[in-house]
Amino acid sequence: MAYNSGIMKRVYIEEISRYQGEEVEIRGWVYNKRSSGKVRFLLVRDGTGIIQATIFSPEKDHPLFLQFDQLTQESSVVIRGQIVEEKRAPGGYEMAVKEMETIHIAQDYPITPKEHSVPFLMEHRHLWLRSRKQNAVLQVRWEVVRAIRDFFDSRGFRLVDAPILTPSACEGTTTLFETQYFDQKAYLSQSGQLYMEAAAMALGKVYCFGPTFRAERSKTRRHLIEFWMVEPEVAFATLEDIIDLAEDLILFILERVLTKRKAELETLERNTAPLEKIKKPFSRLTYDETVALLQTKGSKMSYGDDFGAPEETLLSRIYDQPVCVTHFPAKIKAFYMQPDEKNPNLALGVDIMASEGYGEIVGGGQRIHDLELLEKRLAEFNLPRPAYEWYLDLRRFGSVPHAGFGLGLERTIAWICQLKHIREAIPFPRLLYRIYP
Ligand code: 4AD
Ligand code: MG
Repeated sequence: MAYNSGIMKRVYIEEISRYQGEEVEIRGWVYNKRSSGKVRFLLVRDGTGIIQATIFSPEKDHPLFLQFDQLTQESSVVIRGQIVEEKRAPGGYEMAVKEMETIHIAQDYPITPKEHSVPFLMEHRHLWLRSRKQNAVLQVRWEVVRAIRDFFDSRGFRLVDAPILTPSACEGTTTLFETQYFDQKAYLSQSGQLYMEAAAMALGKVYCFGPTFRAERSKTRRHLIEFWMVEPEVAFATLEDIIDLAEDLILFILERVLTKRKAELETLERNTAPLEKIKKPFSRLTYDETVALLQTKGSKMSYGDDFGAPEETLLSRIYDQPVCVTHFPAKIKAFYMQPDEKNPNLALGVDIMASEGYGEIVGGGQRIHDLELLEKRLAEFNLPRPAYEWYLDLRRFGSVPHAGFGLGLERTIAWICQLKHIREAIPFPRLLYRIYP
């Protein structure tokens, strides 16, 4: 029997309902199997779903039974047969197998249906991705990425790609990944923002969407070393404008995933009721109000401290809605933040905290557009002026107020999927003590 024989139409499990009553071919891997009397049940996954394939025979030594006996978890197979409706089968359909080809027998697949420790699973991340829950997370990730692109593209934003190798820091020098750029030092990008500011002056409304890097020593459930961020930047926009934009983006993503990835969220056992309740406007607090509120809830933080992981968790559990925190002390924020007119010690920045304890998913704000002020801030932050000359040029030639933000892709996915740790929100996480596989 020839693999790819072309006798029966080859189909994917996600579209199986269209082929009821027809004979088709499915190519995939053995997820599980069991037998009961004269029937053998094979659960086959093909990446788009899982289907139950049944082999029925009154003969104990039927050749398909002997072939079935050889199959181990994750062996690859091609199965052919008729699709029939079966309410009790996962997905509501099953295949009555007529022919089966074994492509490869997997020997001792390490991830068995029993419980494994997280370090073990992370060591086998390349295989762990095949499991139902990890598959569901990756499908949600893809949907979130598509939603983000659709959101910006349909609102007239232009996608502009930011470089990954850069000569300067955007988000503070402590988390820079240094590398050699021929005879010069370079850094992996922490954020595309500075380049998006240039692009916004060229194209009006822009966004970049790519990987960013932070040499963070923090070992929390919400930090990755390499993560993806979408960063819109809008010329002539204020802090208020981009808070509004961020709210719309978050609602758009939620709506899309809740309608299109219902099955995956069910696989993840995610109770979606709290996400369905989210609407505009989100809760709003200034930094001052937030500190006071957190102190009444038992936090030990004092005025002037940045929020740590415990504060973020606490804050994002107080409300049912995400929370926008604004007007931070300028000292704890990046060099480029526009000061508040009424109190120049405060920065016009915003952090948006997701609900249910997930903490910050968005950071952004209004940027300094005055040349002298920006020069002063570079000096105060001890940043090397030559690396930022091009950035200062944006304030020399037709400078305008502008604003933008960054939304962390994996933090958003962890929240939507209710993951315990951000490491499952990215196919191959780079963590403080892990770069394998
Ligand atoms: O708040 P951050 O550092 O802001 C910026 O980088 C701005 N330059 C963005 C801008 O205005 N264009 O990072 C933005 C978001 C955070 O809210 C968080 O969601 C995510 O990026 N993020 C991380 N996600 C995973 N692991 C990390 N180590 C992250 N650091 C930031
Ligand atoms: Mg931040």
